[in-house]
Amino acid sequence: NEDQFKKVISHAKEYGYIFGSSEIYDGLSAVYDYAQNGVELKKNIREYWWRSMVHMHQNIVGIDAAILMHPTTWKASGHVDAFNDPLIDNKDSKKRYRADVLIEDYAEKLNVKAQKEITKASKRFGDAFNEQEFITTNPRVVGYLNKKTEVLERMARSLEAEDLDDVKLLIEELEIACPLSGSRNWTEVKQFNLMFGTKLGASADTATDLYLRPETAQGIFVNFLNVQKTGRMKIPFGIAQTGKAFRNEIVARQFIFRMREFEQMEMQFFVRPGEEMKWYEYWKETRLNWHLSLGMSKENYRFHDHEKLAHYANAAADIEFNFPFGFKELEGIHSRTDFDLKAHEKHSGKKLQFFDPELKENYTPYVVETSIGLDRMFLAIFSTALQDEELEDGSSRTVLKLPAVLAPVKVAVFPLVKKDGLPEIANSIIEDLQWNYNVFYDEKDAVGKRYRRQDANGTPFCITVDHQTIEDNTVTIRHRDTMEQQRIKISEIDGIVSKAISM
Ligand code: GAP
Repeated sequence: NEDQFKKVISHAKEYGYIFGSSEIYDGLSAVYDYAQNGVELKKNIREYWWRSMVHMHQNIVGIDAAILMHPTTWKASGHVDAFNDPLIDNKDSKKRYRADVLIEDYAEKLNVKAQKEITKASKRFGDAFNEQEFITTNPRVVGYLNKKTEVLERMARSLEAEDLDDVKLLIEELEIACPLSGSRNWTEVKQFNLMFGTKLGASADTATDLYLRPETAQGIFVNFLNVQKTGRMKIPFGIAQTGKAFRNEIVARQFIFRMREFEQMEMQFFVRPGEEMKWYEYWKETRLNWHLSLGMSKENYRFHDHEKLAHYANAAADIEFNFPFGFKELEGIHSRTDFDLKAHEKHSGKKLQFFDPELKENYTPYVVETSIGLDRMFLAIFSTALQDEELEDGSSRTVLKLPAVLAPVKVAVFPLVKKDGLPEIANSIIEDLQWNYNVFYDEKDAVGKRYRRQDANGTPFCITVDHQTIEDNTVTIRHRDTMEQQRIKISEIDGIVSKAISM
């Protein structure tokens, strides 16, 4: 819900996770900076992905291709032709909308109207109210829901057929049926390319037009043969990569959910033609299990199988996550056929095939891709972890229950007081632990307050050094989630923390 989402955004700022980009100049729309804690969380998510995709699969290797690529790449990939969105301007409000998003907003409005009828009726009829029956028989509710379905279907058809006039008509019709922007003064619908252009070379007449990559995948496709040959890879095998991608999103919104500069974690899995559906199902399941391994509940995830497919795919599904603003795409699994390798073969004139020693034949491999937005994963984890808890003594606390393996700071070490040699002992503990993970020292305020700060920061363990430590080398370890405290030996800290953060 909206309040929770606002809390997420302000907590991310207050605790040094995410700042707006160039904030002193009032920021840059839909561009964000990761702060001191955010950069650690993001790095840990990336590493968790990398270890499970690359290190745990003997037939997957990683690369790090450049952001700038030869301009023909984007002709071959289809992005120059197909990677654009329909836009419509409202002349009165001077606002620009992505036509498909606008229509979806109208459809949502129809939903809300139907829901209002249902709520009204349930109040009127009380216990006797049968919601299911009411939804299927009440003409107004049926009307709203049918209209919603019809609207979305018409939009999909018109966009597919690139009939932009029909898209415009649909918007005008909807504005009468359920006013949203309060105006019917629309311009034509135009296609708008989402790639960021830039130039290679200093002088204007000799400079070459380039694009910042809109997906990392193409860096993998153009390196397919290099990696296959030098790594002596046999099909099926995968190439993984994490890195920045750029899209000039028109309606960039919802914090780091849709940004103009973002990071992807992608893996292209090359398979025998005809075996792609088997691998598509395999990766759908494997990727969902990866998410579940982080301990976020199953109810937060669902698959959405695509009916309308991108220009390169023969099957596609999203893993959707229950964000504070509802279920939305977090990751995509796409069966991309041989579209990309064939297209690069055609545009480059280089053969991009594999000799299969078992079949004794050459072929262009098919590709199953898994593609997840690192920033979206960050948002999914952060927003689920942020919780307000009522405590037994009637007080409450804000706690960021990040999976320990991802937490920016693993251990905070406190001297109970700033004297009697306790800070020195705390620092010597830190000197030992910091070889293995990120550790934080804090001596300000009462210990209870320091615990609360680390709760809100997501730190899974706090260690307190007190006078007894001088006597017997023991400290108090406090667990973030249970708030339980134990007396342990200094030499036991590393074992406990290492176990909690192992994959
Ligand atoms: N190579 C396939 C590809 O790029 P996509 O569905 O366009 O597919 C994959 O993007 C993932 O990248 C999405 O599921 C999403 O997590 C992330 N993503 C896409 N656009 C984004 C944006 N503007 N901001 C943040 N993440 C984005």
